[in-house]
Order: sequence, then C-alpha cells, then structure tokens
Amino acid sequence: MTDATPRHFLDLSEIPADTLKQILNHAHQLKRLKFSPPQIFEGLSLAMVFDKRSTRTRMSFEAAMKQLGGHTIVMNTQEMQITGAESVEDTANVVSRFVDAVMIRMGDHEALCEFAQHAKIPVINGLTDHSHPCQIMADLMTIEEKLGALGGKKIVWYGDFNNVAYTFAQAAPVWGFELLVSCPEDLRPLNAAYEPDAQKAAEGADVIVTDTWVSMGQEGKDIDKFWPYQVNTALMTRAKPHAIFMHCMPIHRGEEVTDEVLATPASVIYDEAENRLHAQKAILAWCLEHAGVKLSR
Ligand code: CP
Ligand code: NVA
Repeated sequence: MTDATPRHFLDLSEIPADTLKQILNHAHQLKRLKFSPPQIFEGLSLAMVFDKRSTRTRMSFEAAMKQLGGHTIVMNTQEMQITGAESVEDTANVVSRFVDAVMIRMGDHEALCEFAQHAKIPVINGLTDHSHPCQIMADLMTIEEKLGALGGKKIVWYGDFNNVAYTFAQAAPVWGFELLVSCPEDLRPLNAAYEPDAQKAAEGADVIVTDTWVSMGQEGKDIDKFWPYQVNTALMTRAKPHAIFMHCMPIHRGEEVTDEVLATPASVIYDEAENRLHAQKAILAWCLEHAGVKLSR
C-alpha cells in the first residue's frame, strides 16, 4: 500500500510545480466542502511539535485534521527528550511509530530536514527561519479567490526579506506572478526583483504584502531602517484600485502596516488566516494519500 519514502512538505523548491498547483486546487475544493468535510483522515493522527510560539499554525492544523476525521497530539520541544537527552534520529523514528504525519515548527531548517531524513512518515514544515511553505499556499489561495489567476499578477513585498518573503519568491516562477521586493539595501534578495524606492515599487501592484520586521527569535532588533517600507495609505494609493493588502500575522500594528490600511476593505488578512485551514487540509491529504489515504469517500 505504501512506498518506503514518505511525502514530506518541507520547502516549495522540493515539490514539482504541477503537484503544488494540484494541492492548491484541492484546497479550493476542500474550502467549498467546509460545512460537509469529507472524513478522509478517519483513524489517522497528526503530531505537532513546536519550538516557537504559534496561534494560526497550531489551531489551523488541529482544526484541519479533526474536521476531516483525524486526531492530533501537540508537544512543545521543551517538554520533549529531544531538547538534550535524545537524538533527532531516535525521536524521528519513535514519533513515526505513533502517528501518521508530523508538523514541526522549529527555527533550524537543517534540523527539520534531518528529522525528515529519519522519519518514516510525512513531515510538514510549520515554519523555520528559512521558509514557511504552508503560509504561502494559503496566501496564494487567497489571491486566487480575490483576484483570479496568479499568472501575470504584480505582488510587492515590503520590509524585512524574511522566511515568508523567501517562500513567496520560491512560488513566483511556479505560478508565473511577478514578485518585486522593496526593502533595505542590505537585505536585497537573490531570488527576486528589487526596488529600493517603496513608492515606485507600489505602482500598478495587484497585491501589497508585508510581515513583521522582528521575526521570532530576533527580539531586540533595531527596526529604524524599515520605516521607509511601512505600508500606509500613501503607498496603497499607488497600487491598482482593486489591490489587496496581505499579512501572514501576527501584526505589529503601527510598524510594518498602519491601522488605517488594516481598516480598509483592501485588507484580506482574516481570509488569508482562514485559508491556512483549507490549504493545510490539502497539504495533509497530499502527504497522506501516498500512505494509502483515499482522497474521496
Ligand atoms: N502566520 C502564522 O504562521 O501564524 P502563527 O505564528 O500564529 O502560527
Ligand atoms: N516572519 C515571522 C512569521 C511569523 C508567522 C516569524 O518568523 O516570526
């Protein structure tokens, strides 16, 4: 029934473009079935392991698994033997005997990959310092819902070129949208187009997107260089009239984005957050399908 190699969802760069598009299409389908969710995960369990804070990732994965008939176990790495007494290899092997998939949020992307290398079940990246692929699947789903096909859209990223921005840049060639990054010169990305002038970057944008200037683990960082990249009303008016504002949340209101922008209909942040639920159902289904789960019942 199963292939020896589990399907991991660690980084968009490791998954074929057609597969990513299929997962996204399935996410839209599952959203349409929001009030009659197919019980495709009946009898299956997902473990969630966190070494960083979370609201959306924790709750949306738990809801996704349970709404489709499955179960969850949540652990903090501080409560686990992995924080000093046990190797990643042993932990990955043991977790693989208890549950059917594991979602992990940890800073160290290499450690996540090491875990996946030893795991006999699918491992899903719930955010590392390198990337946040589940977030971007939800973001792309939101853009498709609000603006239609992604191909040819102009998406402008402001502020810190961080894990979320990096993942957006990975997605651009897959779906054929233009990603322009407007950030301080020292953060200039290698995998996306760059425009240091924030106002100029916004011209003709379909989507304006930003994230906190202080990611988890960077507390105390100097944020002065980011002020020219704050998303505010002046900047939004340069974008197309139908342009939307996105943010993966949590938001530091008054820093990377003003309250004024968040109060406009252009802000789609809560739809974006909800879409974590639907996108992750589809990601889990793709991972678990390979382990014998039937996608339709
Ligand atoms: N966007 C996101 O991943 O939120 P949490 O940190 O609350 O999970
Ligand atoms: N860039 C942020 C995203 C939080 C969801 C962080 O890593 O903290």
